[in-house]
Amino acid sequence: MELAATLAALIGERHVLTGDAIGEHYRIDITRKYKSHPAILVKPATTAEVSEIVKLAAEEAMPITVIGGQTGTVGSAVPANGGLALSLERMNSIVEIDLLSMTMTIEAGCILQTVQETAEAQGALLPLDLGARGSATIGGVIGTNAGGNRVLRWGMMRDMVIGLEAVLADGTIVSSLTKMLKDNAGYNWKHLLIGSEGTLGIVTRAVLRLRPLPSSRQTALIATETFEQAITVLRHLEVVLSGRLSSFELMWSNFFATMTEAQLPQRPRPMALGHGFYVIVEAMGGDADYDLAQFERTLMRLIEEGVMQDAVIAQSEREREAIWAIREDMTPGLTPLRPFASYDVSMGIGYMPVFAAQAGQNLAQAYPAAKILFYGHAGDGNLHAIVSTGQMNPEIQHGFDTAIFNAVRDVGGSIAAEHGIGVSRAPFLSWTRSPAELALMRSLKNAIDPKNILNPGKLLDAMGNG
Ligand code: MLT
Ligand code: ZN
Repeated sequence: MELAATLAALIGERHVLTGDAIGEHYRIDITRKYKSHPAILVKPATTAEVSEIVKLAAEEAMPITVIGGQTGTVGSAVPANGGLALSLERMNSIVEIDLLSMTMTIEAGCILQTVQETAEAQGALLPLDLGARGSATIGGVIGTNAGGNRVLRWGMMRDMVIGLEAVLADGTIVSSLTKMLKDNAGYNWKHLLIGSEGTLGIVTRAVLRLRPLPSSRQTALIATETFEQAITVLRHLEVVLSGRLSSFELMWSNFFATMTEAQLPQRPRPMALGHGFYVIVEAMGGDADYDLAQFERTLMRLIEEGVMQDAVIAQSEREREAIWAIREDMTPGLTPLRPFASYDVSMGIGYMPVFAAQAGQNLAQAYPAAKILFYGHAGDGNLHAIVSTGQMNPEIQHGFDTAIFNAVRDVGGSIAAEHGIGVSRAPFLSWTRSPAELALMRSLKNAIDPKNILNPGKLLDAMGNG
């Protein structure tokens, strides 16, 4: 193939693969629901190389999809058949840590966990944290505007990106690798690219905002009878812990039962079954003795007042990991439910019980034997759901989607809280976005990527009329 030869001359033969030589990692995402056959895989080493690659691909109107950790769940990072897969795995340097400005400049191919650990070794915190931290890349978490476990305190990825460098659809390099928090000099183009799922530009480097590394951490598993009590606990902790609350991961009782049951060979269940709701609560602060005493006192008082039924406070890092494993070590619990559909929706927190009841009812009407498990980052309005009937085909998938997204629409929520639209959510984008919003999105896409080269077939394009 002529393009492959030209690309090999540009970045080195070793870094260009074609056809069957392209490994499975570059063809799928974590769901393994979408598989593709990209014609060419390129692994550039610099932004300048990315720019040259994009110019060459643009000449042939070749679709380009950026490959990261492939931990997405909606098909955003699965390349087009016959397209170009562009992996940034060689662009994985930490360019600079500036502890005075509290910024970190990194290349997009860096693994999230590496970035977290590098920051921590310097006494700084990159607050973004999610279960896929060991494989997700910085480019990927920027491209999807990832959320995760600590959004209620530090926000989503968008809130941590100070500067950005990207390659546009014609190969132009746009760079604003600045370190200041405040910058109102015209349109803030970086926010257009963040969360655009690779459809508006290819993120190559970023300046991220760091925070001082908290020196104490308190983690507890708590139980309440009702959803309202869980939210009372949330609001109380927000006030009493004076901003130190960093995670509030709510689990419906059937999620807790399923996960802990399956994990029994690995670890005992840290709390009995039988409560209505379970929550992993975590706070981070600067005074270990004071913070722990206050945390314990606060939880005890909530139990005495009858708001909370039980609490187990981690006394060691091992106990902390065991508590988080209920939420993050999901493979044993999920395996018997395969094949399943998973959801990532958001709404005003107060609407969650209405949504959960309605979603369950919609589902039961269409699939009486279906199981639905709810859990999620409830502190910021984000719920996940796993739905399973033991079999899956496009019709069942559509039936599940309709049941869940109807309930989302009823409460004015979003069908995509943190994982994006990709391919699988596209048929329902108009349930969450108005015609005027969709038209604005299309104008932006057409202006920035007129040849529709950047990750075509995703997001608006996947709606069939992009
Ligand atoms: C999570 O919160 O664990 C991830 O977003 C994945 C998910 O459960 O859908
Ligand atoms: Zn999540």
